[in-house]
Amino acid sequence: MHILHVVGARPNFMKAAPVLHAISSRNGTRQSLVHTGQHYDTNMSDVFFRQLDLPKPDVNLAVGSGSQARQTAEIMVRFETVVLEQKPDLVVVYGDVNSTIAAALVCAKLQIPVAHVEAGLRSFDHTMPEEINRLMTDQISDYLFTPSQDGDHNLLREGIRREKIHFVGNVMIDTLIRLLPQAKCNLEGLPERYALITLHRPSNVDDLDALGALVSSLLNISQQIDIVFPVHPRTRKHLAALGRDLSRFHLLEPVPYLEFLSLQRGATAVITDSGGIQEETTYLGVPCLTVRENTERPVTITSGTNVLIGRDVDQLTVELAKILSGNKKQAQIPPLWDGHAGERIASILS
Ligand code: UD1
Repeated sequence: MHILHVVGARPNFMKAAPVLHAISSRNGTRQSLVHTGQHYDTNMSDVFFRQLDLPKPDVNLAVGSGSQARQTAEIMVRFETVVLEQKPDLVVVYGDVNSTIAAALVCAKLQIPVAHVEAGLRSFDHTMPEEINRLMTDQISDYLFTPSQDGDHNLLREGIRREKIHFVGNVMIDTLIRLLPQAKCNLEGLPERYALITLHRPSNVDDLDALGALVSSLLNISQQIDIVFPVHPRTRKHLAALGRDLSRFHLLEPVPYLEFLSLQRGATAVITDSGGIQEETTYLGVPCLTVRENTERPVTITSGTNVLIGRDVDQLTVELAKILSGNKKQAQIPPLWDGHAGERIASILS
């Protein structure tokens, strides 16, 4: 049996590692890894391969950046050639990025079975490119591995057959549990007490009015607590265009996985628009304020430490004041976020 895994963008790497490792500990399966090249900077890609013990990709499609359509189409064209050459028995795709839908669509048309890891999540917000990627990928996948039970309910409601759906837990948390003991951050000059910020959603950073309002709110917050802000490449361009004085912030380049885990663990609060960080903070018990109107990860709100801020950035100051006064949300770790999701997937696929 030949299983081919497809990764492309930063959050895929933490999800693929536990599945690759769990399958490789079983006999009789050949695995290969294709990197689409959606993310290509060393600090967005290579460093994650090293820290997560991922094998060097067998193929790098080197698609790079582009519009939604161009990037997706370019991955499809280049990936089809690889699939026709390698003839895998199964292709595994991860998460909700453009690489995920592009690879799944190629395989569905070539009638090669597809497994989708992190299936069933829904924000119900069709303005997000990721929501379109999730909906489409799940419709054409053969194995749907869900991280939480809301995923199963969403898929059943969309008419997916029960026998295709497998509630296995959260692979991203597998990686966190494995590497947390090694997490450390040697960056110099960082404060002891800080709020950690990440922003990269197009709705927050591509629109300069929205970004300007967020920056004003963060400048306000920086009078109460230091701000540590690793800046995503998408965000960097737009922050520069804003032309504001950001010297009150500790601005960083994107940080590697182990350093970022350490920063999360030590934060008084995390302010983010990422999906995965909502989950990691829930596991770590660190308060998370999500600068979005919705989340595809509702379990981080119902069980975890996550609070949705919505469009009203003033709410950020209100919620942060609660955290700073010691009024933290009580949280529990959701079912099957236990470090063994990758093994469950390997066992089902075998
Ligand atoms: C993508 C995913 C998003 C995920 C995020 C994590 C889609 C639709 N979006 O968004 O779900 O949360 O990755 O980071 O797939 N760039 C670099 N170096 C890189 C990669 C990107 O400079 O290594 C710059 C490019 O200018 C590019 C921009 O960042 O235009 C955005 O990259 P892109 O992959 O298009 O989307 P992300 O915003 O990273």
